[in-house]
Amino acid sequence: MKALVVYDSVFGNTERVAQAMGEALASQGEVAVVKVTDARPEHLSGVDLLLVGSPTRAFRPTPALMGWIKALPAGALSGVRVAGFDTRISTEDANSAILRFFVRLFGWAAPDIDKGLVRKGGVQAAPPEGFYVAASEGPLKPGELERSTAWAQRIGAAR
Ligand SMILES: Cc1cc2nc3c(=O)[nH]c(=O)nc-3n(C[C@H](O)[C@H](O)[C@H](O)COP(=O)(O)O)c2cc1C
Repeated sequence: MKALVVYDSVFGNTERVAQAMGEALASQGEVAVVKVTDARPEHLSGVDLLLVGSPTRAFRPTPALMGWIKALPAGALSGVRVAGFDTRISTEDANSAILRFFVRLFGWAAPDIDKGLVRKGGVQAAPPEGFYVAASEGPLKPGELERSTAWAQRIGAAR
Protein backbone atom coordinates (compact mmCIF):
# COMPACT_ATOMS: atom_id res chain seq x y z
CA MET A 1 0.00 0.00 0.00
CA LYS A 2 1.14 3.51 -0.81
CA ALA A 3 -0.57 6.13 1.35
CA LEU A 4 -0.56 9.91 1.31
CA VAL A 5 -1.81 12.19 4.09
CA VAL A 6 -2.41 15.79 2.96
CA TYR A 7 -3.35 18.32 5.62
CA ASP A 8 -3.63 21.98 6.42
CA SER A 9 -3.12 23.41 9.89
CA VAL A 10 -3.02 26.87 11.45
CA PHE A 11 -2.11 26.16 15.09
CA GLY A 12 -0.53 22.71 14.64
CA ASN A 13 -3.32 20.45 15.92
CA THR A 14 -4.37 19.02 12.55
CA GLU A 15 -0.69 18.61 11.74
CA ARG A 16 -0.22 16.47 14.87
CA VAL A 17 -3.21 14.35 13.88
CA ALA A 18 -1.87 13.96 10.31
CA GLN A 19 1.58 12.96 11.57
CA ALA A 20 0.06 10.41 13.96
CA MET A 21 -1.94 8.94 11.08
CA GLY A 22 1.24 8.76 8.99
CA GLU A 23 3.03 6.88 11.77
CA ALA A 24 0.07 4.51 12.08
CA LEU A 25 0.10 3.75 8.36
CA ALA A 26 3.88 3.35 8.14
CA SER A 27 3.65 -0.23 9.43
CA GLN A 28 1.33 -1.06 6.52
CA GLY A 29 3.37 0.33 3.62
CA GLU A 30 4.94 3.43 2.15
CA VAL A 31 3.48 6.70 3.47
CA ALA A 32 4.09 10.41 3.04
CA VAL A 33 2.59 13.21 5.15
CA VAL A 34 2.53 16.51 3.29
CA LYS A 35 1.22 19.98 4.15
CA VAL A 36 -1.18 21.14 1.45
CA THR A 37 1.03 24.08 0.54
CA ASP A 38 3.85 21.61 -0.24
CA ALA A 39 1.70 19.04 -2.08
CA ARG A 40 2.77 18.45 -5.68
CA PRO A 41 1.09 16.32 -8.38
CA GLU A 42 3.90 13.74 -8.13
CA HIS A 43 2.94 13.07 -4.48
CA LEU A 44 -0.20 11.37 -5.83
CA SER A 45 1.65 9.07 -8.17
CA GLY A 46 0.91 5.41 -7.36
CA VAL A 47 -1.05 6.33 -4.21
CA ASP A 48 -3.85 3.92 -3.32
CA LEU A 49 -4.95 5.52 -0.04
CA LEU A 50 -5.37 9.27 0.41
CA LEU A 51 -6.33 10.85 3.74
CA VAL A 52 -7.02 14.59 3.68
CA GLY A 53 -7.57 16.79 6.72
CA SER A 54 -8.15 20.41 7.68
CA PRO A 55 -9.04 22.46 10.73
CA THR A 56 -12.71 23.44 10.65
CA ARG A 57 -12.67 27.21 10.12
CA ALA A 58 -16.04 28.93 9.85
CA PHE A 59 -17.68 25.51 9.34
CA ARG A 60 -15.46 24.65 6.34
CA PRO A 61 -12.00 23.44 5.40
CA THR A 62 -9.34 26.10 4.84
CA PRO A 63 -9.39 27.77 1.39
CA ALA A 64 -5.93 26.30 0.68
CA LEU A 65 -7.11 22.74 1.35
CA MET A 66 -10.34 23.03 -0.65
CA GLY A 67 -8.45 24.86 -3.43
CA TRP A 68 -6.02 21.95 -3.69
CA ILE A 69 -8.83 19.42 -4.05
CA LYS A 70 -10.67 21.56 -6.60
CA ALA A 71 -7.48 22.01 -8.66
CA LEU A 72 -7.00 18.25 -9.06
CA PRO A 73 -7.83 17.21 -12.63
CA ALA A 74 -11.14 15.40 -13.17
CA GLY A 75 -10.71 11.70 -12.40
CA ALA A 76 -7.34 12.31 -10.70
CA LEU A 77 -8.42 10.07 -7.79
CA SER A 78 -10.02 7.29 -9.85
CA GLY A 79 -9.59 4.03 -7.96
CA VAL A 80 -7.92 5.75 -4.98
CA ARG A 81 -9.40 4.98 -1.55
CA VAL A 82 -10.05 8.34 0.14
CA ALA A 83 -11.16 9.66 3.52
CA GLY A 84 -11.57 13.18 4.88
CA PHE A 85 -10.96 14.30 8.45
CA ASP A 86 -10.97 17.54 10.38
CA THR A 87 -10.26 19.03 13.75
CA ARG A 88 -13.07 20.93 15.42
CA ILE A 89 -14.23 22.31 18.70
CA SER A 90 -16.91 20.31 20.47
CA THR A 91 -20.19 22.13 20.84
CA GLU A 92 -20.07 21.63 24.64
CA ASP A 93 -16.79 23.55 24.71
CA ALA A 94 -17.82 26.36 22.36
CA ASN A 95 -18.47 29.14 24.88
CA SER A 96 -21.30 30.75 22.98
CA ALA A 97 -24.82 29.54 22.38
CA ILE A 98 -24.84 31.31 19.01
CA LEU A 99 -21.70 29.49 17.89
CA ARG A 100 -23.20 26.18 19.02
CA PHE A 101 -26.30 26.94 16.99
CA PHE A 102 -24.32 27.70 13.83
CA VAL A 103 -22.03 24.69 14.26
CA ARG A 104 -25.05 22.41 14.39
CA LEU A 105 -26.51 24.20 11.36
CA PHE A 106 -23.46 24.44 9.10
CA GLY A 107 -21.36 21.49 10.25
CA TRP A 108 -17.68 20.83 9.86
CA ALA A 109 -14.88 20.58 7.33
CA ALA A 110 -14.62 16.81 6.86
CA PRO A 111 -17.86 16.25 4.90
CA ASP A 112 -16.83 18.94 2.36
CA ILE A 113 -13.42 17.27 2.00
CA ASP A 114 -15.08 13.89 1.51
CA LYS A 115 -17.41 15.25 -1.19
CA GLY A 116 -14.52 16.98 -2.99
CA LEU A 117 -12.40 13.83 -3.01
CA VAL A 118 -15.25 11.64 -4.26
CA ARG A 119 -16.01 14.21 -6.98
CA LYS A 120 -12.46 13.68 -8.27
CA GLY A 121 -13.05 9.95 -8.55
CA GLY A 122 -12.00 8.81 -5.08
CA VAL A 123 -13.70 5.81 -3.47
CA GLN A 124 -14.81 6.56 0.08
CA ALA A 125 -12.78 4.35 2.43
CA ALA A 126 -14.51 5.61 5.59
CA PRO A 127 -17.10 8.25 6.47
CA PRO A 128 -15.69 11.71 7.22
CA GLU A 129 -14.41 11.98 10.80
CA GLY A 130 -13.67 14.80 13.24
CA PHE A 131 -11.13 15.04 16.06
CA TYR A 132 -11.72 17.44 18.92
CA VAL A 133 -9.65 20.31 20.26
CA ALA A 134 -10.27 21.60 23.79
CA ALA A 135 -10.17 25.30 22.80
CA SER A 136 -9.91 27.31 19.61
CA GLU A 137 -6.12 27.01 19.29
CA GLY A 138 -5.93 23.55 20.83
CA PRO A 139 -4.62 21.43 22.38
CA LEU A 140 -6.31 18.26 21.16
CA LYS A 141 -8.62 16.76 23.73
CA PRO A 142 -7.21 13.79 25.65
CA GLY A 143 -7.41 10.57 23.65
CA GLU A 144 -7.98 12.23 20.28
CA LEU A 145 -4.49 11.53 18.96
CA GLU A 146 -4.96 7.87 19.86
CA ARG A 147 -8.39 7.88 18.22
CA SER A 148 -6.92 9.34 15.02
CA THR A 149 -4.19 6.69 15.03
CA ALA A 150 -6.79 3.93 15.36
CA TRP A 151 -8.94 5.50 12.63
CA ALA A 152 -6.07 5.56 10.13
CA GLN A 153 -4.92 2.06 11.11
CA ARG A 154 -8.40 0.67 10.57
CA ILE A 155 -8.71 2.30 7.14
CA GLY A 156 -5.24 1.14 6.13
CA ALA A 157 -5.98 -2.42 7.17
CA ALA A 158 -9.37 -2.62 5.39
CA ARG A 159 -8.46 -3.39 1.80
C1 LIG B 1 -11.29 31.78 12.84
C2 LIG B 1 -11.65 30.44 13.41
C3 LIG B 1 -12.83 29.82 13.01
C4 LIG B 1 -13.20 28.58 13.54
N1 LIG B 1 -14.38 28.02 13.14
C5 LIG B 1 -14.74 26.82 13.66
C6 LIG B 1 -15.96 26.19 13.26
O1 LIG B 1 -16.73 26.68 12.44
N2 LIG B 1 -16.28 25.00 13.81
C7 LIG B 1 -15.47 24.37 14.71
O2 LIG B 1 -15.83 23.29 15.17
N3 LIG B 1 -14.29 24.93 15.10
C8 LIG B 1 -13.92 26.13 14.60
N4 LIG B 1 -12.73 26.71 14.99
C9 LIG B 1 -11.82 25.96 15.86
C10 LIG B 1 -10.82 25.25 14.93
O3 LIG B 1 -11.42 24.10 14.41
C11 LIG B 1 -9.49 24.96 15.63
O4 LIG B 1 -8.78 26.16 15.65
C12 LIG B 1 -8.71 23.91 14.84
O5 LIG B 1 -9.24 22.63 15.08
C13 LIG B 1 -7.27 23.92 15.21
O6 LIG B 1 -6.59 23.18 14.21
P1 LIG B 1 -5.14 23.63 13.75
O7 LIG B 1 -4.31 23.74 15.00
O8 LIG B 1 -4.66 22.55 12.86
O9 LIG B 1 -5.23 24.96 13.04
C14 LIG B 1 -12.35 27.95 14.49
C15 LIG B 1 -11.18 28.58 14.89
C16 LIG B 1 -10.82 29.80 14.37
C17 LIG B 1 -9.54 30.45 14.83
